[in-house]
Amino acid sequence: MPVSRDPSGHLVLGGVRLAAVAAHAGTPTYVYDLDAIAVEARAMQAAFDGAAHMVAYAVKANSAGAIVATLAAEGCGADIVSGAELLVALGCGVPPEKIVYNGVAKTDDELDRAVAAGIGAIQTESVEEIGRIEARARAAGKRARVSIRMNPAVDLDGATHAHIATGHDRAKFGVPRDQVGRAVELVEGSQDLRLVGITSHVGSHFTDVGPYLAAARVLFGVVKDLRGGGRLRSLEYVDTGGGFGVAYSDDVVVPPPPAFVRAAREEQRAAGLSDLALYVEPGRSLVAAHGVLLARVVQTKTSSVGRWVMIDAGMNDLIRPALYQAHHRIVPVEGPATREGFLPWRVVGPVCESSDDFGEHPLPRDPPALVAVLDAGAYGYTMASRYNGRQLPVEVFLRGGRIAGETKRLVPEEWAHERLSAGREA
Ligand SMILES: Cc1ncc(COP(=O)(O)O)c(C=O)c1O
Repeated sequence: MPVSRDPSGHLVLGGVRLAAVAAHAGTPTYVYDLDAIAVEARAMQAAFDGAAHMVAYAVKANSAGAIVATLAAEGCGADIVSGAELLVALGCGVPPEKIVYNGVAKTDDELDRAVAAGIGAIQTESVEEIGRIEARARAAGKRARVSIRMNPAVDLDGATHAHIATGHDRAKFGVPRDQVGRAVELVEGSQDLRLVGITSHVGSHFTDVGPYLAAARVLFGVVKDLRGGGRLRSLEYVDTGGGFGVAYSDDVVVPPPPAFVRAAREEQRAAGLSDLALYVEPGRSLVAAHGVLLARVVQTKTSSVGRWVMIDAGMNDLIRPALYQAHHRIVPVEGPATREGFLPWRVVGPVCESSDDFGEHPLPRDPPALVAVLDAGAYGYTMASRYNGRQLPVEVFLRGGRIAGETKRLVPEEWAHERLSAGREA
């Protein structure tokens, strides 16, 4: 369950009043509800109705150990994009065979780590990468499991933000559709590789199953044709990627994540591929709604043309508004349940960039001391930076109606020390 407001006007997440969390941990602070994330994962697993599948959680959405471990305990695998994320996934108890590794420029060191761990699949994103994976597998004396991430070249213009659309033919991602046959030949012809999957991921935050399904249809069609030609005998799975959207505002209705899964399964059945496992790679949809970013109001500013609320969280803490023009709801942590008497305020952060702007939000005439930026559980902390000499935000993890874990807040002296000593003799 995402945030709710109790009868006395307190904003509550995971059974805990967020004002109490802010009093305990300070601000800016991300707060996550681990129980709700587990429930989200269970709902997605159930959508497979017992058919062979894997929910490979896209660790990039939120790589906090407590979250990855919670999802691993629910049977999820991991979709990783770096050697460091591999370490997190393994350290959180994700079995190696449940890890798939995407990324267009995996280094030799990263490939070596993946080969050594014996992960479920290294998902190759170009024909050129195949020889590199083969060389690393040969050097390790191991047969690497490989899948081919195909770029289905579907034009999903307008279906999601241009920066998070990856399935068009100008994107750096994936093996171009007309090179998939060649990629299959190369992997199948190698003693050091085993072709186990054909995959795609065409973008993030789809608010409708249509575009997701259009890409899945292309993927399944290619697999069917290749099989018809006697290829893909070792294939174990097809993977339609992540990208299930979430409702970032009250007026948007987004299909629940299991609806994407059910639609993809239906398409898989229609293509005659039900003997293969179906993998999905959701990130955002498992965690976004179950995290908030708490911030303190530092001050207000009014002029003849504007009215601003300045908070202590900025684009360095949550970059989505600046990067994707995303609009996250911002609400008082304590306050009336109704919006009566609220005024439109422009909420901005402390960073010296005009894009450090969370947009316009209805807030009381006298702004509250604390606000919560909602639906901040995905691509929040993982994209945070220390720009402008700011500290990384703290993270607090809730389970069973109480704080189950938290990270430490660094002090400005630590940043200053690191920068002061950069390039200077100790
Ligand atoms: C290859 C791949 N899989 C899965 C995801 C997760 O997408 P989402 O968080 O929208 O579900 C991404 C996101 O960028 C991705 O690049």
